[in-house]
Amino acid sequence: MTNSTPAPENPPRPKRITVPKFSALKESTQKITMITAYDYPMARLVDEAGVEGVLVGDSMSMVVQGHENTLPVTLDEMIYHAEMVGRAVNRALVVVDMPFPSYHLGTHKAIENAGRILKETRCQAVKLEGGADQAETIAALVSAGIPVMAHCGLRPQSVHQLGGYRVQRDENALLNDARTAEQAGAFAVVLECVPADIAKKITKHISIPTIGIGAGPDCDGQVLVLHDVLGLNCDYVPRFVKAYANLQEDITNAVRQYRNEVRDGQFPGPEHGYK
Ligand code: KIV
Repeated sequence: MTNSTPAPENPPRPKRITVPKFSALKESTQKITMITAYDYPMARLVDEAGVEGVLVGDSMSMVVQGHENTLPVTLDEMIYHAEMVGRAVNRALVVVDMPFPSYHLGTHKAIENAGRILKETRCQAVKLEGGADQAETIAALVSAGIPVMAHCGLRPQSVHQLGGYRVQRDENALLNDARTAEQAGAFAVVLECVPADIAKKITKHISIPTIGIGAGPDCDGQVLVLHDVLGLNCDYVPRFVKAYANLQEDITNAVRQYRNEVRDGQFPGPEHGYK
C-alpha cells in the first residue's frame, strides 16, 4: 500500500446497547422494542432487524421444548441457549430469564446462578419474576454487579398458584411491585397482562422503562415471543399477540414441496449434483 492509497475501511461496528443506554431510552420519544430468541440464527436476524433488546426467555420451555408451561426449563438449558444468542447479537442488549426456582433459594444461590449466566454466555443482564417480594434478591444481584430486569403483573412461573394465566388488576399491588423493584435497583420492568390504564400509570410513576406484553400501548416498550410474531406457535396464542408472518404454513408448504419433488424424481436435478 502506498501513502496515497486510502486504508481499507472497516465496516462500522454497530453501537452496543448497554444497560445504562437501555434505561436511558425511557427519555427517548422512540418506543423500545424487545423480542425473544433462543438460538444463533434467529438471534442474528432479530439483532439485524434493529430491536433494542433480545430476551432469552424461559418461554423457550413452551415454544422450543414443547412443555405446557415455563417451569421445566433448567438453568443449564437456559445457559446453553443464551450462549448461542450471546454469540450472535452485536448490538441489542441481551437479557436472560432466570428459570424457576433458580432465584428462590436465597440471595447467595441467586448470585451464583445469575453469575453463571453472565460468565458463561456473553449476555448482559438477567430477568426474574417478581417485584416487592423479590426486592432483597434484586438488590443483592445488583450489588454484585448483575443488572436485573424485573417482571411484574402476570408471572407465568406462578401459574399453579394463580390457577391459570389471568390478567392482573390489583393496581396498588402492581404499582408497589414496580416501584419496589426500581428502588431495589432493577434497570427496567416487564409488565405482563396488566390493564392498559394501570400500565400507563406505572409507566408515569417510575423512572425505569416499562416493557409491556399485553399491557397496552403506553408502556415505554413492548416485548413479544418470537415464535408468536412469526406465526410459528402451534399451540395457544394469547390475545395480546400479533403475528407478522405465517411461517408455520410457509415451512409446512416448503417441506411438503420438497417431499413431493423427491418422490417425483424432480429433486435432485443435474444442477444439484457433481460430475
Ligand atoms: O419468557 C418470556 O418470553 C418472557 C416474555 C414473555 C416477557 O418472559
